Amino acid sequence: MKHLLTTIVAVSVLLPALASANPATLNHPGRLLASNCFQCHGTDGYGMEHLAGERASEISGELMEMQFEPARQDIMAVHAQAYTAEEINLIADYFSKQPK
Ligand code: HEC
Repeated sequence: MKHLLTTIVAVSVLLPALASANPATLNHPGRLLASNCFQCHGTDGYGMEHLAGERASEISGELMEMQFEPARQDIMAVHAQAYTAEEINLIADYFSKQPK
């Protein structure tokens, strides 16, 4: 009985989470890095300054621009300055693969 209850609780908690994740990008190597952006830009980029479905070159271009603006010390620029070019490309590719 205890196992049955545990299973029911586990399934009811996990299923909605799985259903809302985009299965096509679940194993994308940029997903974990991109999750650092979710708190402000929304899960998978569906929020403020909508990133989901944007062209990867546009997202990475903007982040790299921010890296070379040392005078900019706002939250977004400081965030961008913490990533390598390779990491930025992975993050940008991840968001570009989300349906618009
Ligand atoms: C603490 C909140 C916060 C986090 C975390 C954050 N951002 Fe932002 N981001 C903002 C805000 C606020 C703006 C709009 C103001 C600006 O451009 O600085 C913005 C703007 C942007 C823009 C420019 C959008 C446009 O059309 O001008 C891009 C691209 C972007 N963020 C990507 C990212 C990515 C990728 C990450 C994760 C690596 C990230 N952001 C993490 C707050 C955040």
